[in-house]
Amino acid sequence: MTQEEIYLAFEAHNRVAEQGGGEKAINKQKKSGKNTARERINMLLDEESFVELDKFVLHDCNNYNMQEKRITGDGIVGGYGRIDGRLVYVYAYDFTVYGGSLSRSNANKIVKLQKLALKNGAPIIALNDSGGARIQEGVMALSGYSDIFYQNIKASGVIPQISAILGPCAGGACYSPALTDFIFMVKESSYMFVTGPDVVKAVTQEELTQEELGGSTTHASKSGVAHFVGRNEEETLMMIRELLSFLPSNNMEDPPRTASGDSPNRTCEKLQTLIPDDPNLPYDIKELIEEVVDEHYFFEVMQQFAQNIVVGFARMNGRPVGIVANQPAYLAGVLDIDASDKAARFIRFCDCFDIPIITLEDVPGFLPGRDQEHNGIIRHGAKIIFAYVEATVPKITLITRKAYGGAYIVMSSKESGSDVNLAYPGAEIAVMGAAGAVNILHRSLGEEEKKKATDDYIKLFSNPYRAAEKGYIDEIILPKDTRRKLIQALEMTENKTETNPPKKHGNIPL
Ligand code: HXC
Repeated sequence: MTQEEIYLAFEAHNRVAEQGGGEKAINKQKKSGKNTARERINMLLDEESFVELDKFVLHDCNNYNMQEKRITGDGIVGGYGRIDGRLVYVYAYDFTVYGGSLSRSNANKIVKLQKLALKNGAPIIALNDSGGARIQEGVMALSGYSDIFYQNIKASGVIPQISAILGPCAGGACYSPALTDFIFMVKESSYMFVTGPDVVKAVTQEELTQEELGGSTTHASKSGVAHFVGRNEEETLMMIRELLSFLPSNNMEDPPRTASGDSPNRTCEKLQTLIPDDPNLPYDIKELIEEVVDEHYFFEVMQQFAQNIVVGFARMNGRPVGIVANQPAYLAGVLDIDASDKAARFIRFCDCFDIPIITLEDVPGFLPGRDQEHNGIIRHGAKIIFAYVEATVPKITLITRKAYGGAYIVMSSKESGSDVNLAYPGAEIAVMGAAGAVNILHRSLGEEEKKKATDDYIKLFSNPYRAAEKGYIDEIILPKDTRRKLIQALEMTENKTETNPPKKHGNIPL
């Protein structure tokens, strides 16, 4: 063969690899409203930055006459590229090849990328669209998953790991995402279940659609498995780019700073009247967050799950921060099991990647009741304080209104290791609200006397001064100064160094 013939053969080989499962399967994929694996990668990455590795891998399976059906690339498209100029690793399951199922050979491709991402300190993104373990391969496919999960766990806390669910994902195709930091789903075209509707029907006689069992609404609002939902694939992939803009590439790097056009001294007049005079009336904490952060831009995480607590990323004077905030507009901002899990996991993520945490507190306490107690509010609620105390990043807390009981303690109080604790003049810091306290302390009093006892209690505790007298609150601030004061606190704690005692790892109450 001449050199030219060799080059032509190579190009033909490339074209075959890029066809995946072939034209018919690609048409089926497109007809169902989904993009191909390569289209997805190109949409996600900076233009022409994708470098594909292991394009010519073939599977080794001989069961079911599979040796006759080897598809070049074996259903994974993977490699590296750039997002906003920064290195990332990426792989996409190709549903046109055996339903994107995992074989021993394509698992090797994924593991190679996971190891490269870890060694080179860059995020790894998985675009999932897969029927799980390739049934024809038996234990070989399971072994592939074991290796992937192993790498997911070893890389946890070292590099950001992000998963997008872009089609039906079953079995192992859900568990690798579950081990990563963030899961993105697409409205009405992505599903996650350990066992699909057919198996559920066979085992429990329950008839459920894919959407009901594991669609984006289920996972974003009920199970808490998904962190973000896009309206379509493109929006979902753009949201991944957005998320990465807040994150460092690895745990040894600082989060990326940007130049902010928003003055650090901007006053927030709107906040002077945000909190109602009546302490029992709600207000939307997201209005406060958006008023305070750079360019009013808040990138919320888990928007639909446990809405009584709000978590997400923003920038303050160009510096990424994580925000954890009670939401008085939903269940009065009470802490329950789901809110505790949501907050604790987010706090731990921020701590892994050196992102300072701002806590906005307005919480009447933990949610009482049989349901919560029986499902373990004690165990779950304990996760929040565990996560806060364990976190060594700068921690800044602002009490906007209520800080009652155990909820005062766990929401990053001074005594549980917060660096700067601020409060508005209307903050109420006490073991409980006035009505509850008077009913316990003065049960036998008449109505008139109870009213007086309530007024006395309010005078004593419905303010931040008792806490400030003891140094539990460092500074009482006016709402309009919130942005300036939070930025001052962030700058003051910028070079914070704190380490936990040497240990293998703590034992968070899971
Ligand atoms: C081999 C598979 C496959 C699999 C799908 N295909 N899943 N091939 N192994 N796991 C093939 C189909 O045979 C079909 O091939 C093509 O992919 C497209 O699949 P369809 O069923 O036509 O697509 P759709 O109707 O969209 O349904 C998608 C699906 C369904 C919901 C994912 O295919 C399905 O339920 N698959 C099995 C899911 C599963 O139980 N996986 C094993 C999980 S156990 P043709 O040739 O017809 O186009 C597991 C172990 C690890 O993963 C567990 C770790 C915790």
